[in-house]
Amino acid sequence: MTKAVARADIGLAGLGTMGAALALNIAEKGFTVAVWNRTADRTDRFVADAGALAQRIVPAPDLAAFVAALRPPRAIILMLPAGDAIDAQMAALAPLLDADDLVIDAGNSNFRDTNRRAGVAPFGFLGIGVSGGEQGARHGPSIMGGGERRHWDRVAPVLSAIAARYEGAPCAAWLGEAGAGHFVKTVHNGIEYADMQMIAEVYGVMRDGMGMTAPAIATVFDRWNSGPLRSYLIEISATVAAVTDAVTGKPLLDVIVDAAGQKGTGRWTVIEAQHLGAAVPAVEAAVAARNLSARRAERARGQQLFGAAPARLDDGAPDIATLEQALIAGKIMCYAQGFAMMAAAAREFGWALPLADIARVWRAGCIIRSAMLNDMAAALAEDSSRNLVFAPAFADRLRTAGAGLRSVVAASARAGLPVPALASGLAWFDTMRTARGTANLIQAQRDFFGLHGFERLDTGQGGQHGPWGYA
Ligand code: 6PG
Repeated sequence: MTKAVARADIGLAGLGTMGAALALNIAEKGFTVAVWNRTADRTDRFVADAGALAQRIVPAPDLAAFVAALRPPRAIILMLPAGDAIDAQMAALAPLLDADDLVIDAGNSNFRDTNRRAGVAPFGFLGIGVSGGEQGARHGPSIMGGGERRHWDRVAPVLSAIAARYEGAPCAAWLGEAGAGHFVKTVHNGIEYADMQMIAEVYGVMRDGMGMTAPAIATVFDRWNSGPLRSYLIEISATVAAVTDAVTGKPLLDVIVDAAGQKGTGRWTVIEAQHLGAAVPAVEAAVAARNLSARRAERARGQQLFGAAPARLDDGAPDIATLEQALIAGKIMCYAQGFAMMAAAAREFGWALPLADIARVWRAGCIIRSAMLNDMAAALAEDSSRNLVFAPAFADRLRTAGAGLRSVVAASARAGLPVPALASGLAWFDTMRTARGTANLIQAQRDFFGLHGFERLDTGQGGQHGPWGYA
């Protein structure tokens, strides 16, 4: 065997769906990429299928050859399942790499793992969130960078070249130290869960509440995709709803089991929101809805016991235009909760998370890309300390769309149609516009049973106790 020439600009380890797509993207942008996979036959197949791009791909049969193929200082992207596989790979690479080499974890890692790895890696380490699924990875994902800025700057030419573009601007940015990029990707996924759930709820209102067929619903989604709701998730909802099953001749949606999978990033968003004291009830509702979706037998028993809900919307039910308004309001709330959570994380972790840049990076390539994000970037650039729903552009929209959301949630409740994410979005919004809430009673209860004290409204004095008569 001839000695490997260190000619590759960058390495990519892990040729699963995402890794393979990313490697082809890198090669297509003119970089030479060394590739390695745990099983060498996959590497061989990958190169065989790469066509003309194969000339810029250097296949490596083992890790030593992989590292030897890279031009120092080396940069290696790991595209591996989150968790132990990343630690194992870093440990395997450690003896082969120098201190000024760089390893980039591009998987959906938990940001706490990334924080830890950044602290102990014997080489440079970046954690980057990559969104856009296989197509995004192949033709331009959205990239959320975290780690030391100098490390990001070293690989920014490659990452910017392979990223999606919004009006010419690459959707790739350095967002903060250590786990900041993976944190932002996690919140992205939380918003993704909430947005998908709200779209599914509106689909349910059309299917069960209005008796519409999947193709008719596809037409509605398609129309919405030319208005304020224009987004990747609405676009693909229109596409999937229009597909006919080749086996049964029915709409494909009607033969798909109603139990949603999940790999955990939505759950992580909820867990981290709780740690931060941030409120992301739309994401919580979406994660809970996925959990419940999996309990099919239990739901079937419930239907037997209680009977199916009446389901058809009653007189005065919202029309399609009102449904659209409801989804506009809901979508704004998903993002608003996510951005507020990132603001809380920035305070807690000492990151200077650039919220407007995050909105910009999400405008193309990622799963939650939508027409609204450009306006959100502008609103956040104006004032990133204010909740998005208070930004004039969104407050205006919510004056109309909020009424639509209320009408859809109310009609759905009357019909027994579950719309947990939309309902939680509405309750969150109503809470956000209620100056005098009801936690005064909770404070009195806490003081009653635990002498926790309360603050008086009239004097502003804290540590007060009620005359409960037992102290
Ligand atoms: C993306 C997606 C992608 C993937 C997640 C969510 O941004 O490209 O978020 O990362 O779809 O793994 O998957 P689950 O729905 O299985 O949690």
